Parts: sequence; C-alpha cells; structure tokens
Amino acid sequence: MFKKGQRWYKIEDIAERYDDSRFSEGGRILNRKEQETLLSLVDPEGKYILDIATGTGRFAELLSKNGADVVGLDASREMLKQSSVECIQGDALKLPFKDDSFDAAVSMRFLHLLDHPQITDFISEVGRVTKEKFVFESLHPLSLRMLYQWALPQGSRLYSNSFLRKKFNQVKTVKGVRCEEKFIVPYGIYQSMPLDLAEEVMKIDQRLVEKENLLASTVYWEVFFD
Ligand SMILES: C[S@@+](CC[C@H](N)C(=O)[O-])C[C@H]1O[C@@H](n2cnc3c(N)ncnc32)[C@H](O)[C@@H]1O
Repeated sequence: MFKKGQRWYKIEDIAERYDDSRFSEGGRILNRKEQETLLSLVDPEGKYILDIATGTGRFAELLSKNGADVVGLDASREMLKQSSVECIQGDALKLPFKDDSFDAAVSMRFLHLLDHPQITDFISEVGRVTKEKFVFESLHPLSLRMLYQWALPQGSRLYSNSFLRKKFNQVKTVKGVRCEEKFIVPYGIYQSMPLDLAEEVMKIDQRLVEKENLLASTVYWEVFFD
C-alpha cells in the first residue's frame, strides 16, 4: 500500500496534473479551507518548519508566505518539480536531518498512505527532528469516503481516532495529542463539484460538522513533543 502511494506520485503526468485535478473548481474551496485550518493550528511567524510529503508545495508556500522558513520534503522528484519552495527529495520514514532541526513539522494528506505498522516509526522519526509540535491529518473510516476510497489507484488507509491515539501513545517523546474533525463531504466529492455548488455545500458542511461531527471525513492532529 505504502509503495503503491509512492509509485503513483512519481508518474510525471500525475504530478504535472496534481494541482489542476485537485484544486480547481470545487477543490479550490477545499484548498482554501484546508489552508485556513493549517494556519489555525500552526503559527508560522519566525519558525523553521518541515513540510513532510510536501508534494507540489501548496502548504510549504502558504507557511513561507506567512513568515516561516520552510523546507519541503517528498519522495517524488516529479511532484517536487512543481513546487516553488526550497525542497529536498527524501523518505518520510528516514528524515535526512539532525535531531531537533525544526521548530515544527506539518504533513497534509499523507498519513493515509502509511501502513499501520509504520505509524509509530513515522511519528517517532518526526519527533526526533522536531522541537515543538507536528500537525497532520488522517482520514476517518466512518465517513462518506468509504464510498470511493477502495477505487483509488494510489491506495489509501482509513484509521480511527482511537487506533491512532494508541499508536501515538506508544511513542516515548509524545507528551500530548489533540485532534479536531472537519468536512463531512470528503475531498473527492468536493473536487468533482463545480465551484458555485461547492461553495454552497461547504457552508452546510461547516454548520453540520460544528454541531455533530459523527461522519467527518478528515481529522486534524496536533502532536506535542517533549
Ligand atoms: C496526496 S500527496 C499530498 C501532497 C501535499 N502534502 C498536499 O497536501 O497537497 C502525497 C504525497 O506523499 C508523497 N510520499 C509518498 N510516500 C512518501 C514517503 N515515503 N516519503 C516522502 N513522501 C512520500 C508523494 O510523493 C505525494 O507527493
């Protein structure tokens, strides 16, 4: 599964079309909301931040525009070619940095590409290079994503919050964990909607998820290190 996720993003054509296929039309609204969410969880001003699995660099660019010094890391040279921010090709499970190199780390739309035995190793590797905190997202199994996630060519794993909490608690350097849930309508559905419809759906989605997040598809995590 993990290898499948790596191979998919190394296809030149997939990397070249990544931004257009995900962040035009309805995906544009989603991208804006994801960016707002990240900025509510990380204060970039004056910080040195690692963006793991940076892809085409949309979050690295956002953090950089908001005052951070950012390094993007990704396994795919093809994805990195599309990024305008300083980046390095590498493996998220073997980060090529010294201990405590960064103030914080972020990683969006990546955890679902990991197999479950890799999760504790990944968090502990991020904790090794990061001083304060790690912000990332997971995708929830009890959500509408179940409708199509089996068909995704890059592979995708959905993890429950209780399962992930157990995994995080196994990492010695983790001193606290917090999470919040978003988006009842999953990414794939927003991305296939026209812009005006997505705007309306997002308004309803936000109201529903504030009231009752039972079917939320996306979970944002903050992990704090010792
Ligand atoms: C869905 S994309 C997300 C990109 C970006 N974070 C975003 O939200 O637009 C997943 C990324 O994970 C990268 N990736 C997969 N396995 C990796 C690994 N072992 N180490 C680093 N990056 C990896 C892929 O190359 C791809 O760019």
